[in-house]
Amino acid sequence: MKALILSGGKGTRLRPITHTGAKQLVPVANKPILWYGIESIVEAGITDIGIIISPETGEEIKQKTGNGEQFGANITYILQSEPLGLAHAVKVAQPFLGEAPFIMYLGDNLIQDNLNPFLDTFKDKHLDSLILLRSVANPTSFGVAKIDENGRVSKLVEKPKDPPSNLALVGVYFFASTIHEAISNIQPSARGELEITDAIQELIDSDKIVESVQLQGWWLDTGKKDDLLEANRIILDTNLTINKGGDIDQKSQVSGRVNIKESSQVINSTIRGPVIIGENCHIENCFIGPYTSVGDGVTLIDADIEHSVLLEKSQVLEIHQRIVDSLIGERTKLEMAPQRPKALRFMVGDDSHIELV
Ligand code: G1P
Repeated sequence: MKALILSGGKGTRLRPITHTGAKQLVPVANKPILWYGIESIVEAGITDIGIIISPETGEEIKQKTGNGEQFGANITYILQSEPLGLAHAVKVAQPFLGEAPFIMYLGDNLIQDNLNPFLDTFKDKHLDSLILLRSVANPTSFGVAKIDENGRVSKLVEKPKDPPSNLALVGVYFFASTIHEAISNIQPSARGELEITDAIQELIDSDKIVESVQLQGWWLDTGKKDDLLEANRIILDTNLTINKGGDIDQKSQVSGRVNIKESSQVINSTIRGPVIIGENCHIENCFIGPYTSVGDGVTLIDADIEHSVLLEKSQVLEIHQRIVDSLIGERTKLEMAPQRPKALRFMVGDDSHIELV
């Protein structure tokens, strides 16, 4: 059994954060989203992992994620030179996959469920494909499945205008090698991509066995800001180990589940978990409220912030209003004049979004 993680694409929905980086490397609780997928694949006992990368962000992914040693895996990087669809990515990966059955995992998806039970079902029943489904409020944004009472999939449609159900295809799939032939028989969709959804429909049409399981736990497709904040909230709620390291002075109060790295400094501040704080941060005269992730090298002085994600080396200085529900990019600086400001002055990158609420 092998695994194929798709980590290409341009991440248009997370701009401007993804102008400079890969969306799969945006951190959730200070860890790149992509790494959660790798860890869960390794936990299921699969260590031979191919990662699909794009020319735009591939180097950064390779550099940060490495050869897999840190995960106990062996990672092979596979370049997809154009974003021609998920099924096209499988085609490009065929030399790596050979005849092996495999898990395909979209690098910006996060699921709570452990993969082992799904893997067992897939193997024990000798399926051609096992897909994971979850009911959603907006099925028109996903691939959607129609299933019979035995969980057999009868129909799949990508981004349907008139959805046959509210069961969306989650970005984690199990395939036998029969998927390759199915892919060779499909045509690009209206958006010009070879859709994996169409390839699975092709399996169904040629009487192959496709079953589905409905996810019990949460599923997050982190492609947008609010989804990312939600993922951050859930991971901080469920996966945070307490570590009150760092240099915390007498005037500071740290309560609840908080993880602070040893090299960070906290002066005259209140931190109320769940909160994670990375390496080499300077936090002074601040309130940091629940569900905040502070990346490495961040400086917060006279700041009041909660339910937010701050990426590496960002700075928030002397802002006395509370900052909420925010995603602050790498090396961004937010500051306010000491007296009540009479004007607002910005230098903001393309595709930014500022709300003064
Ligand atoms: C892709 C798939 C879609 C699936 C979704 C899950 O959509 O095409 O069927 O439901 O991932 O995240 P995309 O992210 O390409 O819009």
